[in-house]
Amino acid sequence: MDVSGCTALVTGSNRGIGKAFVEALQKAGARRIYCAARKTSSLDELVAGDPDRLVAIALDITNDEQIAAAAAQAGDVSLLINNAGIARGGSLIKAKSLDGARAEMDTNYFGTLAMIRAFAPVLAAGGGGAIVNVLSISGLVSFPMIGSYSASKAAAHSLTQGVRADLAGQGTAVVGVYPGPIDTDMAEDVEMDKAPPSTVAEAALAAVGDGTQDVFPDAMAAQISAGLQQNARATAKRVAGMAPS
Ligand SMILES: NC(=O)c1ccc[n+]([C@@H]2O[C@H](COP(=O)([O-])OP(=O)(O)OC[C@H]3O[C@@H](n4cnc5c(N)ncnc54)[C@H](OP(=O)(O)O)[C@@H]3O)[C@@H](O)[C@H]2O)c1
Repeated sequence: MDVSGCTALVTGSNRGIGKAFVEALQKAGARRIYCAARKTSSLDELVAGDPDRLVAIALDITNDEQIAAAAAQAGDVSLLINNAGIARGGSLIKAKSLDGARAEMDTNYFGTLAMIRAFAPVLAAGGGGAIVNVLSISGLVSFPMIGSYSASKAAAHSLTQGVRADLAGQGTAVVGVYPGPIDTDMAEDVEMDKAPPSTVAEAALAAVGDGTQDVFPDAMAAQISAGLQQNARATAKRVAGMAPS
């Protein structure tokens, strides 16, 4: 798919990786970009910088009514970027309650699924288009310190494989993106080397352009992906060793 001239919608576009997606789409020559955020006031500055191409949309991906309204308003979308996500739960065992784990599933799995179900007919009407799901390398191997987040991203990884098969018949390409630590608010407490958010957006758009299905945009993601291919059990054990005492 040619990203230049496409009409895209980016969830969680007000900051972090979502904002980097908007900037990368602008650079790539997208015709129109729907910038979705829970609070549209958080998009004012971004949209004011390119008002002919950027359109703000109020969208909480856990709100079915807002999702339906977005699909009705953005009926010309050919590229859906499912970026919005949360990390709340911490450890599977040590977290004080299941509240964080449930919220992560609601947003990262059910929210992404609801968006794809709502936009599948829009993409079909436009000839197929593409979907990008921003997942995580921690969805392929559990990181114990964020075990419930890993589980929600594993569910979203499985959903990515499932909808790829479901939507192949209508010509919709589905790209899964599996970043390691990225320098955004979400990872502010992570003490590891972090890649800039633009790395994720640019690698994902390149994949949309050349038909790559799985994207490992930064050094840590690429290293873990290679480790999983060579020796999945040893890689899982090494990552498990990162558990807090
Ligand atoms: N940073 C990392 O190290 C890293 C690594 C791998 C994967 N990821 C994934 O990358 C994606 C973007 O994360 P980020 O690093 O850019 O984090 P971030 O800076 O915390 O941004 C998260 C974005 O998602 C939005 N969001 C959260 N819940 C939402 C909901 N229910 N409906 C709509 N929007 C919602 C937030 O909106 P508000 O401003 O309203 O809160 C914000 O725009 C997430 O899916 C995350 O899991 C991040």
